[in-house]
Amino acid sequence: MDFPADLIRLLSNAQSMAVLTGAGVSQESGLRTFRDSQTGLWAQYKPQDLASPEAFAREPKLVWDWYAWRREAIKGVRPNAGHYALVELEKRNSAFTLITQNVDGLHQMAGSRQILELHGNIQRVRCSNCGCLAESWDEQSQEVPRCVDCGGLLRPDVVWFGEPLPRSQLEQAVQAARSCGVFFSIGTSGVVHPAAALPYSAHNQGAVIVEINAECTQLTGKADYFLQGKSGEILPELVKKLADTASR
Ligand code: OAD
Repeated sequence: MDFPADLIRLLSNAQSMAVLTGAGVSQESGLRTFRDSQTGLWAQYKPQDLASPEAFAREPKLVWDWYAWRREAIKGVRPNAGHYALVELEKRNSAFTLITQNVDGLHQMAGSRQILELHGNIQRVRCSNCGCLAESWDEQSQEVPRCVDCGGLLRPDVVWFGEPLPRSQLEQAVQAARSCGVFFSIGTSGVVHPAAALPYSAHNQGAVIVEINAECTQLTGKADYFLQGKSGEILPELVKKLADTASR
């Protein structure tokens, strides 16, 4: 891709960066994005109808099994070139915050350090009653496993529709968005709040907005730069271009 020269100049001199990622970043690792259709057994359900406290109260086993299926799908999945490029971008910037809506843990696996997980992590499981994290559970159980301390039903440690985001993570994300010089929105449809508001907060504080997405989104019209395509291709090219520019 031919990057605009002024974008490369801007990124080379940027003092601080915040990056918001969504499911599109993991698409090239083989994980389906949220708004893609589901497969097989799960094709009849919308994720929005399973990822909610109401669904869990109504049919805990159904919701538990869906997450067990997703945990299984993530096993063996590896970060892609886009995840690794973000690790490099972090190394180049002392003030760098990675904000992710993804629960797959691939940014950590790639080696990113400063990560705010706004929607939790699917590999963690906690008690729906007392909140304590479970160290182990029986994945083969016919029933939803229960907390060893209080007997409450276990659930994934992710944020469901209608639930608040982890407060400290959200506060840090808002702070990063408001104080950064450049804000990247990558592989997210930008329709789920409050994460979707972060680029606008950054824009209102004067940050340059760079969007990388396979398709246009609601943010595209506001973005200073829209790089259309796959993040697993564009990000490595961008990081290489920055490295080449720096070594000249
Ligand atoms: P979506 O599935 O809504 O959007 C994925 C975005 O990635 C779309 O805009 C695609 O165009 C784009 N995309 C797909 N493949 C790509 C690629 N290879 N490179 C770049 N872009 C690509 O996923 P999110 O925006 O992450 O929340 O969804 C946000 C939240 O909604 C999720 O965290 C989840 C969901 O409901 C909760 O569960 C609370």
